[in-house]
Amino acid sequence: MCETQNYYRNKFAVVTGAASGVGLALTETILSYGAERIVLADVNEANLAGEVARLNSAHSGQALGVRCDVTNEEEVKGMIEQAAEFCVGRIDFLFNNAGAGFAGKFEEQGNGDWGKAFALNFYGAVYGIRAVLPIMRAQGSGHIVNVISGIAFYPMAYQTMYSATKAALNGLTLALRYEYWDENIRFTSATPGTVATAIWSVGGGDAPKGAQSPQQSARTILSGVSKNERLVLGDDTDASGVRSRFNPDAAKYADEYLLNVARKRRKGEWAV
Ligand SMILES: NC(=O)c1ccc[n+]([C@@H]2O[C@H](COP(=O)([O-])OP(=O)(O)OC[C@H]3O[C@@H](n4cnc5c(N)ncnc54)[C@H](O)[C@@H]3O)[C@@H](O)[C@H]2O)c1
Repeated sequence: MCETQNYYRNKFAVVTGAASGVGLALTETILSYGAERIVLADVNEANLAGEVARLNSAHSGQALGVRCDVTNEEEVKGMIEQAAEFCVGRIDFLFNNAGAGFAGKFEEQGNGDWGKAFALNFYGAVYGIRAVLPIMRAQGSGHIVNVISGIAFYPMAYQTMYSATKAALNGLTLALRYEYWDENIRFTSATPGTVATAIWSVGGGDAPKGAQSPQQSARTILSGVSKNERLVLGDDTDASGVRSRFNPDAAKYADEYLLNVARKRRKGEWAV
């Protein structure tokens, strides 16, 4: 644990989608590991104001909230500029965490819907990366973490946009890992695992039984990131899912499971 904490001690970090769920837990945990300052970016101003006030009462003046819609490149640029100012010119970490589940029937989703899904789950990260790279290059280091989902490896029916956007984000992350490796700018993809957050309201339901807490997920992600893993898997289900999906011997089981998910969802049973 000490090694993990050391990776964040005295560092400066930006987390998007930080006013709730996994992003908020990442923020709190990074602060508890001794980070110097942290910037919470989120579109939900009310949650942001409340959480930043709470964090600053425990970690005086170390947190800044910036209202930012990550689907708007100008807003993301402005947010990174504000973050750099608050962090006295340094940004060691960017967690592109803002995202949503985008459920529904493929045939009822038009190009406008696909555009919105990619704007949030994919381009939001592209804009963040573009804005922060010059700062990381100038300081000679940095670590960018893109929060994907197990669904990138286990695509599910009635979540085609979620599956596609998160798979695309994973491809982006891993290609950039090699593009920037020699500049000491690190890239990691992280799945949170199944986590009890507001995201589960997307299918009109609750988080599945046995979902872990955002804090557990954040600790797993931060530990993997501190080891510079290329892909952090947030829980055992994601880890075994990734193994089995690409194992030809397990293809039959995976196909049966995913077909069953599709049939249940068609009947309105959202739980997987
Ligand atoms: N909870 C899970 O089980 C789970 C599983 C796999 C992946 N994820 C991923 O984890 C990340 C965090 O999700 P969560 O579960 O904490 O959900 P959440 O709904 O609790 O948090 C998402 C946050 O993103 C913010 N946000 C939404 N649109 C935004 C925008 N345009 N600009 C800026 N902020 C915006 C929301 O206001 C919210 O605070 C997402 O990328 C999600 O896809 C979650």
